[in-house]
Amino acid sequence: MIKISTLISLLLISAISSLNAAVYKGQKVYVDSCKGCHSGGQELAASKNMKTWEKIMDKKGEKLADIHLTSKKAEASWSYFNDRKFIKDSKHLEDFLVEYAKDSGNVPACN
Ligand code: HEC
Repeated sequence: MIKISTLISLLLISAISSLNAAVYKGQKVYVDSCKGCHSGGQELAASKNMKTWEKIMDKKGEKLADIHLTSKKAEASWSYFNDRKFIKDSKHLEDFLVEYAKDSGNVPACN
């Protein structure tokens, strides 16, 4: 019995840390690719609820790319949103945005 519970805790720990790794990656993407135009990532994340982010980031961030590609003000981001790198980044970004969404219950850290 001890072995099984040890196994379960190990599984839980690794599941939690891989989730955190995804959120952390998304935060890094945000700092690298979004922060230049938008302010704090957690602030932006907290401006919408989880459902809204899931919709915006659906189909590999199609909607988010659209918002920028149809805005002249966001022209400096067009090369990024047209790049395959964004497709790769979009999943991590979604994890991060959903993690800190308005209704996620996660209070943004003061930084
Ligand atoms: C070159 C500057 C620039 C970069 C880089 C950029 N954005 Fe934007 N973003 C804008 C501008 C400008 C708008 C407003 C578009 C409009 O409404 O005309 C916008 C709009 C948005 C909106 C919609 C705002 C709302 O309240 O509905 C979201 C969400 C957003 N950006 C997220 C991101 C994320 C996430 C990234 C990084 C992957 C990013 N942006 C990168 C300039 C940028």
